[in-house]
Amino acid sequence: MGLRDVLIDELRDLYSAENQLVKALPKMAKGAKDPSLKASLSNHLEETKGQVLRLRQAFEILGKKATGEHCNGMEGLIEEGQDALEKDEEGATLDVCIIGAASRVEHYEIAGYTASIEIAKALGERDVVALLTETLNEELVASKTLQGAGKVLIKQSAADSKVNEDGDKKPKSAKEKTSDKKSKEDEKKASPSIR
Ligand SMILES: [Fe+2]
Repeated sequence: MGLRDVLIDELRDLYSAENQLVKALPKMAKGAKDPSLKASLSNHLEETKGQVLRLRQAFEILGKKATGEHCNGMEGLIEEGQDALEKDEEGATLDVCIIGAASRVEHYEIAGYTASIEIAKALGERDVVALLTETLNEELVASKTLQGAGKVLIKQSAADSKVNEDGDKKPKSAKEKTSDKKSKEDEKKASPSIR
């Protein structure tokens, strides 16, 4: 497998990731409470649709088909985003959870585009580099916007938490119990190498 194939693989991963996001972002925007967070998630949905088109252009330049590789990483991140939406939180605190999930998504994409740009550069694929760089810049701005919104909403959430310090917890769902169990197993497996 040569470097060109690595680039195609990376781009297929990103293509699947962006397509999954086109489906997931409206749910996140709908779940967000803060109007400006809602607006930035909706705005990023429109950008994401453009990013899908750019990737299609890149595949055309490279003479390859766009599809063929499902991105498991993004599937997991979206699932975590879904979990954030289903959490028993409200207002600014729910928004903070959404921002955490959305930021992870952006960082995943930033890593993917950064790597792909470097590979495309090495292969002398200047038009592909230009397309990917345009998208990378959008992802960087989106990530910064989320960070900015997070700063405001974390303060708001901290103030809200002081008002209702109840500690009332719902019983754990089956999904939460499984997650709890898996997390303990991870801890157990890692412990011997850490100590
Ligand atoms: Fe994206």
